[in-house]
Amino acid sequence: MKGMAWIGDMAVSRRLVLGAAAGTAALGALAACDDDPPKPTGQATPPPLDPQDWASVRAQFVLDPAVAHFDAFVFASPPATVRAAIDAHRAQLDRDPLTYLHANEVARDAQITQEAAKYLGAHGELYLTDSTTMGLGLLYGGLALASGDEVLTTEHDFYSTHESLRLRAARDGVTVRRARLYRDPAAAGVDEMVGALLAAVTPKTRVVAVTWVHSSTGVRLPVREIATALAEVNRSRSPQEKALLCVDGVHGFGAVDAGPAELGCDFLVSGCHKWLFGPRGTGMVWGTEAAWQRFRPVIPPFDNASIGAWMGFGPGPAGAVPPSPGGYHAFEHRWALREAFAFHNALGRDRVAARTAQLAATLKAGLAQIPGLKLITPRSPAVSAGLVCCDIPGTQPAAAVQAMRAQGIAASATPYNPSCLRLGTSIVNSVEEVDRAVAAVRALS
Ligand SMILES: Cc1ncc(COP(=O)(O)O)c(C=O)c1O
Repeated sequence: MKGMAWIGDMAVSRRLVLGAAAGTAALGALAACDDDPPKPTGQATPPPLDPQDWASVRAQFVLDPAVAHFDAFVFASPPATVRAAIDAHRAQLDRDPLTYLHANEVARDAQITQEAAKYLGAHGELYLTDSTTMGLGLLYGGLALASGDEVLTTEHDFYSTHESLRLRAARDGVTVRRARLYRDPAAAGVDEMVGALLAAVTPKTRVVAVTWVHSSTGVRLPVREIATALAEVNRSRSPQEKALLCVDGVHGFGAVDAGPAELGCDFLVSGCHKWLFGPRGTGMVWGTEAAWQRFRPVIPPFDNASIGAWMGFGPGPAGAVPPSPGGYHAFEHRWALREAFAFHNALGRDRVAARTAQLAATLKAGLAQIPGLKLITPRSPAVSAGLVCCDIPGTQPAAAVQAMRAQGIAASATPYNPSCLRLGTSIVNSVEEVDRAVAAVRALS
């Protein structure tokens, strides 16, 4: 990625690296890396997908077979159909960009919406973004809130939620408060989490900003139970005063068998380049019709009514301004989202979730046998998903990641303080790989 370097799991802009380190040798290495021409992938055509056979599913990916990839949830490698769609769109866009764009933009968006709706299993409006972070920034920057209105978030959310809200508060005086939902993540319970969050809701709370699966601990929030409890609080409020339940869904989306209908949230924000194994640089924000009424876009949409009105040809969109951010995009990636959703629809959301949970359970059972190791993620599948976090006493998470990588196991250190060792079990993993991961952690303990 041009101009970017990596610290832990997070990309940091070249400017920041320059300011922080001013290490000319390191920058020289980065620059050389940036200028390297892409190497040919030598991708072979995979055998046809048999959705019932996990080996066939794994064969759809070109991940390095020498490595067991338990870090796919940070930034995914897409399956064959998605790669082929990206290649095909890119070739046509390179040949004749505008003709191909005009011939495709309306139909492709409709196809994505249709396939995504099957996956999400819900009505409502969807807009596409480049990432979870972009979706959260646009959403929390654009919700209609007045000075003094409160946003309630939690101690457990990621940088992208906390910083989107901090920037919003700095801009127009919205109050942001944080609740702690559990003390011991391994023992986190549904009642404890719902009770702690609801106890922090006040008459001024207009937004509840939470994360479905915490990337710091692997704890999965009981979003449905939270939605039900919040609906009770909202019952006597006017539409403008209702507290909207907004969810950073990225570590549940593509890993848990639930969509907006099951979650009962007002907004669901996710990247599609993690557990969904979609094209890099894709994401979405889904919202109910009523919730979108409370949203004021920051980026102008590219719909005909808005552009027509700007040109003096009409009154503009009927109703609220559409939320979809306009501008030309990396359409070869965006349009391949259709294949990403179709891939999951072919596998079945329920089967993907069951496989993810089964591998996570096997991993947690293995790790729990290691003397001294502290499992951070709950064993219960009701409050966890595919993320598995642990501490190896006496070993720094980053050092553990490095040592495991040398054993052919790709894991990650959480970008939080304190950090911990984190593995994500997904459809690209086998049971044998899970056993190898346990053995690698055992060797470090
Ligand atoms: C909970 C959570 N939300 C958002 C992100 C950022 O996702 P994206 O790369 O799609 O912006 C991450 C990590 O990458 C995360 O752990």
